[in-house]
Amino acid sequence: FTRNMSLDASKLEIIKTTTPKAKLPNDQLVFGKTFTDHMLEIEWTSEKGWGKPVISPYHNLSMDPSTCVLHYAFELFEGMKAYRDSEDKIRLFRPDKNMERMNKSAARIALPTFDGEELIKLIDQLVLLDQDFVPKGAGYSLYLRPTLIGTTASLGVGIPDRALLFVIASPVGSYYGKTFKPVALEATDYAVRAWPGGSGNRKLGANYAPCVQPQIEAASRGYQQNLWLFGKEGYVTEVGTMNAFFVFKTSDGKKELVTAPLDGTILEGVTRDSILELCRERLSSDEWTISERPFTIHEVQEKAEKGELIEAFGAGTAAVVSPIDRIGWRGKDIAVPAGNGDAGELTKTLAEWIRQIQYGEKQFKNWSREAK
Ligand code: COI
Repeated sequence: FTRNMSLDASKLEIIKTTTPKAKLPNDQLVFGKTFTDHMLEIEWTSEKGWGKPVISPYHNLSMDPSTCVLHYAFELFEGMKAYRDSEDKIRLFRPDKNMERMNKSAARIALPTFDGEELIKLIDQLVLLDQDFVPKGAGYSLYLRPTLIGTTASLGVGIPDRALLFVIASPVGSYYGKTFKPVALEATDYAVRAWPGGSGNRKLGANYAPCVQPQIEAASRGYQQNLWLFGKEGYVTEVGTMNAFFVFKTSDGKKELVTAPLDGTILEGVTRDSILELCRERLSSDEWTISERPFTIHEVQEKAEKGELIEAFGAGTAAVVSPIDRIGWRGKDIAVPAGNGDAGELTKTLAEWIRQIQYGEKQFKNWSREAK
């Protein structure tokens, strides 16, 4: 089948709110709980392709109870952020990467793809219209949630012939409550997040709900998140809300930054990619090896026992760079030395490099794009 790719930002219609909401002070922002005055919507049909984009006051969606998103999880989303720079300009961080990933997610579940640059233009307009909601200050931003759902009203399992792309925006601070507070993970192998040939590498809503029950179990033992393992070997994959990175001492006296490879079971994080690129560019190869390679929880445990585990952190759009201070595994904790209530040296350096680019203080490969 062919997909009409005619998403056209120049057709945008804007209907402004007549009842603007009050803006919360930064210290009252809770991740994803409050939203801006407006939202963006674009309908798609198999006959006409993408329709006219509309920005209108934030509102409830109405749909037939048989709508396919409600039954078969035809849903995917993105997480991206808009930042306020020191000149009060609003910036997006690598939005092209989100568009690329969103299209891959859409293709995976037979939803329509679109021209990502056109959606970025529309997101720019939403962000500019609601720019008073973009908080100021390091660690604060406007979290954007582009979402695509199948809206065919039918219980037949098949290709949706109706879809809705919408974008909502939520002013946020740190995802885990307090900026840079280390998180404790429980290495989990009694449940599996993703498997080769599955869909764990795509940003589908269906990947998230099944992770909540294991998260509750981990929480009952004092851990905030699961570190998802795979296979009898115990491969370390990711955290679900972020990709996982480890720093090891190696026998040649160097340090190795390690994260799992994109083998189909790992979400292709934009922050993950940015960290790898920044490290390859800025860290001296005399001192550092940057690895995307398979590694197991046994290797992490062994390295920790030999004093060769130096740091661990998670990276994601919502989580930014979050230090990890311990990992529970089969009833015992693997302590991350640099944790100890603080963050390791590389963790801090990376958080700062990323912050400088996101908030427009330093430019790097045009990653920070002013909304216009
Ligand atoms: C993000 O980092 O944007 C995510 O999507 C993670 C989570 C909040 C679902």
